[in-house]
Amino acid sequence: MPRPLKVLLVEDNPADTELALRELRRAGFEPEWRRVDTEAAFLEHLHDGLDLILSDYQMPQFSGLRALELLKQSRLEVPFILVSGTIGEETAVAAMKQGAADYLLKDRLARLGPAVSQALESSRLHAEHRNLEEQFRQAQKMEAIGTLAGGIAHDFNNILCAIVGYTELGQLIVKEPPKAREYFGAILQATRRATDLVRQILTFSRQQPQERLPIQLQPVMIETLKLLRATIPSTIEFDTSLATDAPTVLADATQIHQILMNLGTNAWYAMQDRTGWLQMKLEKHVVDETYAATHPRLRPGIYARMAVSDTGCGMDQATLQRIFEPFFTTKPPGEGTGLGLAVVHGIMNDHDGAVTVHSQPGTGTIFHLYFPAHAGEATAATVEQGPVPRGHGERVLFVDDEEVLVHLGRNALAELGYEVEVAMEPAAALAMVQADPLRFALVLTDQTMPGMTGFDLANQLLQIRPELPIILMTGYSASLTSAQVKAAGICQLLRKPTTLHSLGTAVHAALSPKPIHG
Ligand SMILES: Nc1ncnc2c1ncn2[C@@H]1O[C@H](COP(=O)(O)OP(=O)(O)OP(=O)(O)O)[C@@H](O)[C@H]1O
Ligand SMILES: [Mg+2]
Repeated sequence: MPRPLKVLLVEDNPADTELALRELRRAGFEPEWRRVDTEAAFLEHLHDGLDLILSDYQMPQFSGLRALELLKQSRLEVPFILVSGTIGEETAVAAMKQGAADYLLKDRLARLGPAVSQALESSRLHAEHRNLEEQFRQAQKMEAIGTLAGGIAHDFNNILCAIVGYTELGQLIVKEPPKAREYFGAILQATRRATDLVRQILTFSRQQPQERLPIQLQPVMIETLKLLRATIPSTIEFDTSLATDAPTVLADATQIHQILMNLGTNAWYAMQDRTGWLQMKLEKHVVDETYAATHPRLRPGIYARMAVSDTGCGMDQATLQRIFEPFFTTKPPGEGTGLGLAVVHGIMNDHDGAVTVHSQPGTGTIFHLYFPAHAGEATAATVEQGPVPRGHGERVLFVDDEEVLVHLGRNALAELGYEVEVAMEPAAALAMVQADPLRFALVLTDQTMPGMTGFDLANQLLQIRPELPIILMTGYSASLTSAQVKAAGICQLLRKPTTLHSLGTAVHAALSPKPIHG
């Protein structure tokens, strides 16, 4: 039975083409073929699902080596055989180096059949090999995810127990306000840990959208320090030194916040049960050739360098070697997932930066974070803090298809001083605004809803009333960016889970009159 073979012949001479086809048929192939002799025609047919490319070496408008180069660029894995009347040893070697499967002289075409069989076979083996490799990588990934799931399931269960337990207690004693306050505080703390854990995992698995903007690191550090100071007991003293001349960097403020929280809590843990110093530093730092040579991720140049150091227990060499590994932890079971530093490492890589560490058992640890300087002006970036701004009875529309969230949104906004109406379907929200465009001072909408996304709803609402303030709420992994949302005329993208603080701040900001730019 003749073996079908889809072949592209790169050849200007029809007679030579005939000869080659005759050889292929003689060797048991049934060629389905096309002849091309220009770059444009080659490119046009390169993606036709070819089994083989047979190419002449020199043509008036094209060449075999150029064809080979284009094939490599396309990343297609089609076996390529060079056929020439005059091929020299050197050219042949060059062609093989570039990835040709074989080369033949036109006067020895009898070898074509076996050469093609061999090229096809080795191409098949190659594909099989790649396939196995891919499967292996996939298996490794699954294993890592399994470990991850196992590692977090335990922590998560404890967190959930706390949430359920305290909620039940809260229900029992809701007539006793001081106790209720205590229990609800505990619920919040548990949910904060759950939120943190989910965020670490999402960042680690790169499912958290990243938004790098030119920013100054100083304000982000100040905000984070406030939060750390509120969490860490006063037996641990803080020492900060933030240089004002540190360069602007291209960074995602939320992720910088996350890095500092991870390093800060590690430092705290290392100093537990004793007094100590936690130091945070920011400075302009020049990396020279000599230092760059010692670190694969650093190039000579100007950096903003953060340092986080502690006077805690320190680490020995064996620990130091493993700290950036995901799931490596020396904490007792249930207390740590070992993701903190893996996340720091991943974020630094994503920022084209680097992290280094020095530590001595008994004396303490210092982490250095290098961010390449970014030419260009910084935009203001902040991480939430301060008191929650309140409303003054402005009427807002809250749109979400999930009943629990609608309930929560209504209560939270009412608590913040707004008058709230709700819609559980985008179409209903649209109808409400259509009926009375000036009824609402603001619309808050979820992104993922059946029938219509929040983004589409916002677009339609803005057609009815272009200056209507709209806030779009999305889950972690939604692919929308702030830039896209702003371009569409939406005030803000709010990431879920929202806190009372982030909700209040966003609504307040959206309702505040915008500064007018002349
Ligand atoms: N400042 C530090 N001083 C001493 N040891 C540290 C310090 N930072 C990290 N380590 C060591 O590195 C390990 C890994 O840290 P990492 O932040 O990745 O995970 P973890 O803190 O153990 O757990 P998680 O951050 O998930 O709660 C820690 O368990 C600890 O042994
Ligand atoms: Mg940690």
